[in-house]
Amino acid sequence: MAQHARAGQFLILRLHEAGERIPLTISAVREDAVRVIFMTVGKTTEELATLRAGDRITDVVGPLGKPSEIANYGTCCVIGGGVGIASTPPIAKELKDAGNHVIGIIGARSADLLILEDEMREICDELYITTDDGSKGVHGFASDVLKKLLEERTLDRVWIIGPAIMMKVTSGVTVPYNVKTYVSLNPIMVDGTGMCGSCRVTVGGETKFACVDGPEFDAHQVDFNELMQRQRIYTAQEKVSLERFAE
Ligand code: FES
Repeated sequence: MAQHARAGQFLILRLHEAGERIPLTISAVREDAVRVIFMTVGKTTEELATLRAGDRITDVVGPLGKPSEIANYGTCCVIGGGVGIASTPPIAKELKDAGNHVIGIIGARSADLLILEDEMREICDELYITTDDGSKGVHGFASDVLKKLLEERTLDRVWIIGPAIMMKVTSGVTVPYNVKTYVSLNPIMVDGTGMCGSCRVTVGGETKFACVDGPEFDAHQVDFNELMQRQRIYTAQEKVSLERFAE
């Protein structure tokens, strides 16, 4: 996986035979390892967080999905929100290596939830930080910084990775400037190979499977409301599962 993974791709892991399969973006590639970063939001991630170095999981499949469309575009902006920041270094790095001027914007609710600042600072030509509560960087959202950048200069491509609502709002900023904008979608996935249909999303009025057709899509074509509604389908079951695990 370390030899083949490209920016924008993900893996699916399963902790044990009875475990669910969860997709996580590949956040970095080392010589003989890949890195994923996760947030404890439900039963599987809570259980994953109990593992220690040297522990094993049942299986991991990847790299999955199409790589980011990297080329020399000119000036590119890579935006990460919350745990979505985990996906930004490989994209920023490949864009940089392709000769782009890379601007990074990373934002979180508060300073303690901000990750990979040093790594992104090293890769990007410019880095902006935002926090919702003003505890670090610009007090506000990544979309505020993006808006200001677009007022001042030309951006040739924008990538946005974060919670669906953040991607919806932030990609709306680039619409009037007609800047091609990519988002990495995070629907529920099962097999990750285009067979189950659980990851289906509507892009440009067409049904796409995020696992094989994406996960990156043209942000201006994505039906974010449907994505958010489908992400909530199993909220009740997820709650019960987490409660049982906590008992
Ligand atoms: Fe099953 Fe995409 S996860 S089709």
